[in-house]
Amino acid sequence: MKKLLYSLLALSMLLGACSTRQPVRTDTLLRQWQFTQDTTENPVWQDVTVPHDWAISGPFDRANDLQEVIVVQNGESEPTWKTGRSGGLPWMGKGHYRTRVKVNKDKFYTLVFDGAMSHADVYVNGEEMVYWPYGYNTFDCYILPHLLEQSAISDQESEVTIDVFLENKPQQSRWYPGAGLYRNVHLVETDPIHIPTFGVLIRTPKVSKEFAQVTIDVELQNGVDEISIQDSDISVQTDILFNGKVVATAEGQQSVAEVKNPQLWSPETPHLYTARTRVYKHSEVSGQQSVLLDEVNTRFGIRAISYTPEHGFQLNGETRKFKGVCNHHDLGPLGAAIHKDALRHQIAMLKEMGCDAIRTSHNMPAPELVELCDEMGMMMMIEPFDVWNWGKTENDYNKEFNDWWKWDITNMVKHYRNNACVMLWSSGNEVWNQVLPDGIEIVTKLQELFHQLDPTRPVTNGMDQAMHVIHNGFGAAVELPGFNYRTSRYEEGYEHLPQKMILGSETASTVSSRGVYKIPAILKDFAMYDDFQSSGYDVEYCPWSGLPEQDFQLQDDYTWTLGQFVWTGFDYLGEPSPYDTDAWPSHSSYFGIIDLASLPKDRFWLYRSQWNKEDATLHVLPHWNWSEGDLVPVFCYTSYPSAELFVNGKSYGNLRFATPEETERLAKGETIEGISAMPKVGDFVPPVWGSAPRPELLPRYRLMWFDIPFEAGEITVVAYDEKGQEAARETVKTAGEPDHLEVVWANEKENPEELCYMTVRVVDKDGNLCPKADNLIRYEGTGFIATANGDAACLDAFVEPQMHAFAGKCTFILRKGWKGKFIVEKNK
Ligand code: GAL
Repeated sequence: MKKLLYSLLALSMLLGACSTRQPVRTDTLLRQWQFTQDTTENPVWQDVTVPHDWAISGPFDRANDLQEVIVVQNGESEPTWKTGRSGGLPWMGKGHYRTRVKVNKDKFYTLVFDGAMSHADVYVNGEEMVYWPYGYNTFDCYILPHLLEQSAISDQESEVTIDVFLENKPQQSRWYPGAGLYRNVHLVETDPIHIPTFGVLIRTPKVSKEFAQVTIDVELQNGVDEISIQDSDISVQTDILFNGKVVATAEGQQSVAEVKNPQLWSPETPHLYTARTRVYKHSEVSGQQSVLLDEVNTRFGIRAISYTPEHGFQLNGETRKFKGVCNHHDLGPLGAAIHKDALRHQIAMLKEMGCDAIRTSHNMPAPELVELCDEMGMMMMIEPFDVWNWGKTENDYNKEFNDWWKWDITNMVKHYRNNACVMLWSSGNEVWNQVLPDGIEIVTKLQELFHQLDPTRPVTNGMDQAMHVIHNGFGAAVELPGFNYRTSRYEEGYEHLPQKMILGSETASTVSSRGVYKIPAILKDFAMYDDFQSSGYDVEYCPWSGLPEQDFQLQDDYTWTLGQFVWTGFDYLGEPSPYDTDAWPSHSSYFGIIDLASLPKDRFWLYRSQWNKEDATLHVLPHWNWSEGDLVPVFCYTSYPSAELFVNGKSYGNLRFATPEETERLAKGETIEGISAMPKVGDFVPPVWGSAPRPELLPRYRLMWFDIPFEAGEITVVAYDEKGQEAARETVKTAGEPDHLEVVWANEKENPEELCYMTVRVVDKDGNLCPKADNLIRYEGTGFIATANGDAACLDAFVEPQMHAFAGKCTFILRKGWKGKFIVEKNK
């Protein structure tokens, strides 16, 4: 009876009093801080804006985090000097941030850190509030009520000082971690009676086209103490909104709402609902109004997911395979500092490629990334750890794991379990424990915690020791087995593992440099050249990895494969394999489908030709600036069934794709008329754990004409449809001398709030890209933020308004409203 009365009261209140009130909850981003790395008594402070990465301005230096380690993946048994492994930037050491905020003595305050790199120690007015070592996770702390009384500036208000001490240890990471308050810091002001951080849990246990059941669980606190609405004068009401309209309502701390004809979430239809949860306090005096104490809006989606051996992965009842990429968290020249426009640009490019999923390897994502994936339609696998208690570098998370895994998993899962885009969790990446006696016990207890917090999604694990885990019990203990590489072990895994499903949790690791082609095009592993580049023909990889075709084949031919996550969507700072061992100045990766300057490499179109089912793909490589006498391979990545190559009008033949059966004949050495020949295979480091090269698979997915005698002019590929009619054509011309610049606003259609990605191309007088141009390009004007060219061995600073072109291009990131011009220095 009491409950019913409160509900009625709450409803009547909704109609009246709330509209004129101050918001009951505010979430303010704390952006202005002072920063110092000076540890003396009177440090010199610098004003900074958070998100802030103290290391991205450089300078690059070989000595920064030089690591003498054994990289087992490389097949090493003795330590060697690894240069540029964590980016060659000065991210190590201590950093101290300070800010002052005004607080209201009647309110309650929570500080939420979306991530702080790392070992964060947070003090308010000199009292320690929280310590959180893992730099990637979100954590919160209160400004304890007694601190609100200190340093009064009026009867109502005080000003408190927040200090954040951070420390990054050398050998803490095997990629660039970034440094500082690189994600947002929120000051959340509420009534003392409030919903705590991550205090609303939404689930959709029943989903059909006609109706969906939505369950809502709400936590409540009074100050720092948990409370319940039982026997109190508090009530909770949740409205479910779609496009701003209330479509269902539920009452109580644990409640159920029903939504009719739900609009289901999928990458193609990213419909989102909002649960608006309100907390009321009721007046004891009859006739007096209830007071709204708190209001939290939680976005969620309605969708059904399942993973079964019969149907594989299903979203809303339809089987699909993940067409995913793995990404690190850095944003190239912007460093680790979070920028929503940069993330939006990444997702937009990936969607254009046909990609529908991201694995956050190997750490918790920024909340902005998850929000954008929800909005833009990108599925996610969220993975917290690269190690458990056995490290890959001396000071990595192995030092924290035993004490912190529970807290880290709890915060991560509570943070993202309401997000529609999250399809699965991963408990770790290539953890050594997969072959250690404690592995099964650890993976089991981690999975139990994941399921306790979120029984609705499965937990995978990226296993690279397929040859062991298939038989040692670890693979069987992982809920949804994920294989990293080891394409030749998939069938064995399927046969022996009880789950009868295999996810390509990490695939390919092909290496290439945008626009740099090594002839002849030969399959090689660990190929190194004097210019510190890898071939743009997409034929090179590492002893543990492979080429895209090996994974396309597994996904296309077996119903029990669940899809894949390619290593990586974007190049990242650090891990410059194959140039990782004493090969300075290489300091960023070669694995990306898209380079560090957000410019697509040719591989972008290879994946697009297979993944993007909406738009046709036709792409030809390489450039056509060679020397007399060169015999040049020409490759075509296309979704059309066949294409013909012309050089200055002369046909070099029409090629179609090989069928699976034809690839077997090619493997036996047969030549088949009308089908590409297999590329040659070069010297291979005997695969340590990798798979033997499979050159016969390439003609199934690429059209390749080898040994085309170079003559200046143009190459054209003409694509034909199923009926043999011309459907599209693409031409590349021999370019003349660099003449001027062409500038294209690459993210214009994404309507950025702040950042403009400007692609700068060095072209000849007729507008042809000069494919070898490395001219210095300067920006003169306002709004400069960062620049990059995608060359993993280039030491130009990201933060100076000038950059050498690499293979004719570079990117400038400018603030919206910029005014200025780009100037090209003529090479001498
Ligand atoms: C994997 C690892 C990734 C990255 C990649 C490079 O084995 O999980 O983090 O190192 O290799 O190919």
